[in-house]
Amino acid sequence: LSLCGRTQIVKVVPKHIEHFSKFSPSPLSMKQFLDFGSINACEKTSFVFLRQELPVRLSNIMKEINLLPDRLLTTPSVQMVQSWYIQSLMEILDFLDKNPDDYKVLGEFVDALVTIRNRHNDVVPTMAQGIIEYKEAFAQDLVTNQNIQYFLDRFYLSRISIRMLINQHTLIFDGSANPVHPNTIGSIDPHCQVGDVVQDAFHSAKMLCDQYYLRSPDLILQEMNKKKNLPVSMVYVPSHLYHMLFELFKNAMRATIETHENSNNLPPIQVMVSLGGEDMSIKVSDKGGGVPFRRIENLFSYMYSTAPAPQIGEYTRPPLAGFGYGLPISRLYAKYFQGDLQLYSMEGHGTDAVIYLKALSTDSIERLPVYNTTALKNYKVSQEADDWCIPSKEPLDLRNYKVAK
Ligand SMILES: Nc1ncnc2c1ncn2[C@@H]1O[C@H](COP(=O)(O)OP(=O)(O)O)[C@@H](O)[C@H]1O
Ligand SMILES: [Mg+2]
Repeated sequence: LSLCGRTQIVKVVPKHIEHFSKFSPSPLSMKQFLDFGSINACEKTSFVFLRQELPVRLSNIMKEINLLPDRLLTTPSVQMVQSWYIQSLMEILDFLDKNPDDYKVLGEFVDALVTIRNRHNDVVPTMAQGIIEYKEAFAQDLVTNQNIQYFLDRFYLSRISIRMLINQHTLIFDGSANPVHPNTIGSIDPHCQVGDVVQDAFHSAKMLCDQYYLRSPDLILQEMNKKKNLPVSMVYVPSHLYHMLFELFKNAMRATIETHENSNNLPPIQVMVSLGGEDMSIKVSDKGGGVPFRRIENLFSYMYSTAPAPQIGEYTRPPLAGFGYGLPISRLYAKYFQGDLQLYSMEGHGTDAVIYLKALSTDSIERLPVYNTTALKNYKVSQEADDWCIPSKEPLDLRNYKVAK
């Protein structure tokens, strides 16, 4: 961009963000996603929807980026992420006055979406880098930590949703059928075999584990299907399910091996897949020694768990662990279609991680953040005194106490 062009952008961008952030994002249901990609799929309809909806989702979250503490917002990493969002927003807005009946326009739109998707590939590690820079430079307080946690959950969830929209459009309308998965609709498998995804994810984690530790625990997989005596199947995005399971298996394997270092046999990792009327749940159980209850919440925190990011070429941490984003991001994938991910641990014994998803595609509706006064309030909370007493470290010597009457 020329200097003059950039000045122009900087001037008009806030107006566009202001305009589009006034709209609420429109959550799509699994059924709507399937309709967009079924036989009567209409590229024109999808184009007209996306050139409005993508700016709405981008602008809503860009308003929240602006509310981050100044000292975080101004780090080079966060500035970089922000510039990507601005650039992508402008590129989509270019299509607002284009003719949806012109097939050339539709082709250019697909290309633009691919460019945008690639531009945003490294948002998570770049943002994580910003958090590290911030943590190194400034003392943290509880309120800022809470704000950052609140922001990043919403920011990453918004990103998952934007990538889902982009993937559906580009996969369905790139002109060629998906040769690898002929029965999927974009990234959605209407007959996702949950047990198969469990096996795949386990196998990948096992290979990493064997490479590093030269051994790995086995898998025991059980399925419960209330309706029929068949393997559990559902409408879902297999890549999302795979992502969650792969993270849970890496954690379970690492814990199992590190607590059974001196033993010849490793207790297996047990998985239960259960389909009910409302929930499809997957429990991953390990005997890896567990985590103290007090620490469970911190395992989902971006601020606590941001260990130094793994440097390329230098392994300070085993490859089975990353920079501590495995659990929080996996929980967001589960929440994206109204599910959840929870850990139940018994210190000294092991951990159960449970993924809860909606069994019915009619219940699987996108869960999206919206920028409004309630969201704004969450960034304005100030440091107030706690309404619970802080236990003193030393036991009181009651003999020295005079009772006031
Ligand atoms: N099944 C488990 N058993 C014991 N500890 C676990 C288990 N799962 C997660 N943890 C703890 O939670 C931390 C965070 O997990 P995660 O978010 O996957 O990040 P990472 O694996 O990159 O450290 C791990 O480092 C580990 O200490
Ligand atoms: Mg992990």
